[in-house]
Amino acid sequence: MLRVPSTRVSAKVAFILILIFKCTFASENKILEALDGNEAAYVKELLEFVSIPSVSAIPDNQKDILKAADWVKKRLKTAGLQNVRVLENPKGPRPAVYGEFIVDTNLPVALIYGHYDVQPADPVENWSSPPFKPIVKDGAVWGRGASDDKSHLGAIQAVEAMLKIDKTLPLNIKFIIEGEEEIGSPYLEPFLEEYSETLACDFVISADGGQTSETQPSLTLGLRGAAAIEIEITSLNRDVHSGMYGGAVQNPARALIQLLYTMFDPVTNKVLVKDFYKKVRKITPEDRDDILAMNFDDTAELVQAIGALEPLGEEGFSSLERIWLRPTLEIVGIAGGYAGAGIKTVLPATAVAKLAARLVPDQDPKEILALLEAHIQEHHPKACNVTVRELGFKAFPFVTDRNSPVNTAAAKILKEVIGAEPQYVRNGATIPAMAAFQKYLGAETTTLAFALSSDAVHAPNERYSLKQYSTSRVAYVKFLYELGTEIKRGRLKSKNSEGSNAAGASRDSPESDHSEL
Ligand SMILES: *[C@@H]1O[C@H](CO)[C@@H](O)[C@H](O)[C@H]1NC(C)=O
Ligand SMILES: *[C@@H]1O[C@H](CO)[C@@H](O)[C@H](O)[C@H]1NC(C)=O
Ligand SMILES: [Zn+2]
Repeated sequence: MLRVPSTRVSAKVAFILILIFKCTFASENKILEALDGNEAAYVKELLEFVSIPSVSAIPDNQKDILKAADWVKKRLKTAGLQNVRVLENPKGPRPAVYGEFIVDTNLPVALIYGHYDVQPADPVENWSSPPFKPIVKDGAVWGRGASDDKSHLGAIQAVEAMLKIDKTLPLNIKFIIEGEEEIGSPYLEPFLEEYSETLACDFVISADGGQTSETQPSLTLGLRGAAAIEIEITSLNRDVHSGMYGGAVQNPARALIQLLYTMFDPVTNKVLVKDFYKKVRKITPEDRDDILAMNFDDTAELVQAIGALEPLGEEGFSSLERIWLRPTLEIVGIAGGYAGAGIKTVLPATAVAKLAARLVPDQDPKEILALLEAHIQEHHPKACNVTVRELGFKAFPFVTDRNSPVNTAAAKILKEVIGAEPQYVRNGATIPAMAAFQKYLGAETTTLAFALSSDAVHAPNERYSLKQYSTSRVAYVKFLYELGTEIKRGRLKSKNSEGSNAAGASRDSPESDHSEL
């Protein structure tokens, strides 16, 4: 127990605290006014950024990838960041852009993440205005990438305004804006390994993500991980006549189905692979409260929205529990024999299935792959050759503590700027970057991003509402101040504040020599 020894000391503390809050308040207002006054310029620069067709999926657009990276580099420089540079990826062709502002190496470091690459614009004829000639219409910027994720500009503008007026920041900030998110960040791991020192941080803030709606904020606490395999069964050296050979040899399609059948319980819908659930965490009362607060409507979400005849899944769990908190193993592709029009009577030489698992804490994708392979070795039918191949889709599950100082601060600011208590949500899908930041940087990610489902991301007529754009700037300013307050209260600390290179200011940084204030 810590006790304040005398009233004199506590009065002093109170006085200092009041001063801190007063100063913060004064410059915060000035900054918010400056942001308001600059609105037209911010809209103009989003239009300029969106006009670069930085599509990562199309090799022909590589020059635009580099152009967008250069654009971000210039933008981080004008914002007043230091040590700004384009970081080549050691394995892939799409670089990331880095910039930092190191106030004091003893303070925590926040790494702000976003991406400058975008999805292809196809089908272009479905756009009401050209995807890479963005326009302002109905209070939004329309164009590919306006929301996902060139809207991360809001975070840069917030930091810029703070630096202009305060000449400093409440904590150390690093930006990493990558260029391969829309193709699944295939080279993010070697990148993080190569630059782990440059990117060293205490936590990550993702400027890629969104809110439930303009009036309902949400904070993402977790994502499922992934593991995937392909099973190929071969029992013949060619397709053969089903009358001349049928009944006398193994049929690979039948063998595959028999094998797959051993993996799922048809009554409970549980995965029967031994130890598949062994490391799955128990659902907590808090998790159940989050789910209840969502009012998930099975009929609307599963029957009406996607045409399912009825909800169906692992016995003993509700639909949202199944999607958020339980793992699944799904057959995502299956092939073998003739499935065209009419009939062709063959026994196929081979049959193939692709399986994708979605994982939850504390499952490990490598262990799950080993369990699947062991199951297949043990259960495959006779008289056939079975090949199992790992597919690239592999990620650890991600979960972050709602009560961490950073998540608490984000929740507070979301409530303040959007005007409602945020929902705490999980996501059944996978963002490999979140778990990769945990693994390579030892840092958890909080998402502070303002895209809406009505933005039509990845689809024709993508747009980003100017209101959300402006909210994002205000939220970032308030959030960084809130983190500063948490630091002053001693609730948010740099994990390396004693000793080694806490702020991780890169060794080659000219600023790092005099950043110990
Ligand atoms: C494009 O428009 C056509 C015709 O309206 C529609 O059928 C199709 O679903 C649209 N495609 C996308 C991806 O929106
Ligand atoms: C099955 O595997 C055996 C041993 O590797 C090989 O000799 C045989 O050719 C394979 N048969 C087919 C149909 O792939
Ligand atoms: Zn994105």
